[in-house]
Formats: sequence, C-alpha cells, structure tokens
Amino acid sequence: MQKYFRIFLSSFFFSVALLTNATAQDMKKDDSLYQDLGQREGIAKIVADFVPMLLEDSRIKQFFTKVKKEEFSEHLTNQFCELAGGPCRYTGKDMYEAHDGMKIGNAQFNAVAEDLQMAMEKNNVPSSVANRLVAKLAPMQRPIVSK
Ligand code: HEM
Repeated sequence: MQKYFRIFLSSFFFSVALLTNATAQDMKKDDSLYQDLGQREGIAKIVADFVPMLLEDSRIKQFFTKVKKEEFSEHLTNQFCELAGGPCRYTGKDMYEAHDGMKIGNAQFNAVAEDLQMAMEKNNVPSSVANRLVAKLAPMQRPIVSK
C-alpha cells in the first residue's frame, strides 16, 4: 500500500512539474519583433531618423513646433520597444491624453505612419518587420484622431 502511495505521490509531483513548465513557456513574452528591430539600440536609431522627418514634413510639422525633441524621442523609443515586446517601459502620457485637443485628422495620422515607415526603410528594416510595428500602432488611431 505504501508503495502505491509513493508511486501516486511521485506521479502527482511529476505532473505538477510538467504543468508548471508548460505554463512558464506559455507566459514567456514574444519579443521577436523587438529582436527583429535590432533591440533598443536599433529602435533608438529609427526614432533618431523618424523625429526630424516629423519636424520637416509639411503635412504635419505645424504640430511639432514646441516639441522637446530629446524627451519626445526617449518616450517614442520606450513606447516602440515595449510595444515590440522588449524589456522597456513607456512612462509618458496615454495616447488619448498626449494628443487631446490637437484636432488630429486621419490624413495626419497616416502621414506620421508613413514617416515611420520611411525611417525604418532608411535603417534597412525589412518591410515584413516594419509592417508588424505599424500594425501595433493601428489601435492608437482611435485615441489620437479627433477630427
Ligand atoms: C501612431 C501614431 C502616433 C504615436 C505612436 C504617437 C506617440 C506619441 C508619444 C509617445 C508622445 C509623447 C507623450 C508624452 O511625452 O507623454 C506623443 C506626443 C505628441 N504627439 Fe504623437 N503619436 C502619434 C501620432 C501623432 C500625430 C498624428 C500627431 C500630429 C500630427 C502627433 C503629435 C504629437 C505632439 C505634438 C506631441 C507632443 C510632443 C511634445 O510636446 O513633447 N502624434 N506622441
């Protein structure tokens, strides 16, 4: 009887161990997009090209006349890094609050997305990877666009 109890106990703990391992695997964050973008360093380079593009783009530059370039770039880098599954934390305002009252339209939102794609192209990011980041930004259209 004691022997059967021991067998029961060991198979019980074995199953628990298997289950715990499976759960840990499932919960592992998918950071493939972060890796494909060249980690935080790669993302920072993209943002370093992206921000000047925004400031020079005649379709939208009027919005950015008072922007604090360094802080803005830092926030964008952390935001993209976090969105891509990387180990960063975006600590800026949420997208509704950050753009509240700016009266941004869809065409202006698309202009920003286009500039980001050009900045990624300039950094040799393959279009399949670039599209994955742009897809992550799509849900932000609703809180950002107010016109
Ligand atoms: C997917 C699109 C966009 C993303 C991911 C995005 C992201 C951000 C982030 C992270 C901030 C910083 C918020 C903070 O510092 O707390 C910000 C601020 C700002 N955004 Fe956007 N934004 C987007 C679209 C737009 C568009 C379409 C416009 C205007 C055409 C715009 C204009 C601004 C301006 C003027 C600021 C304030 C910058 C400052 O004064 O520091 N954004 N945005």
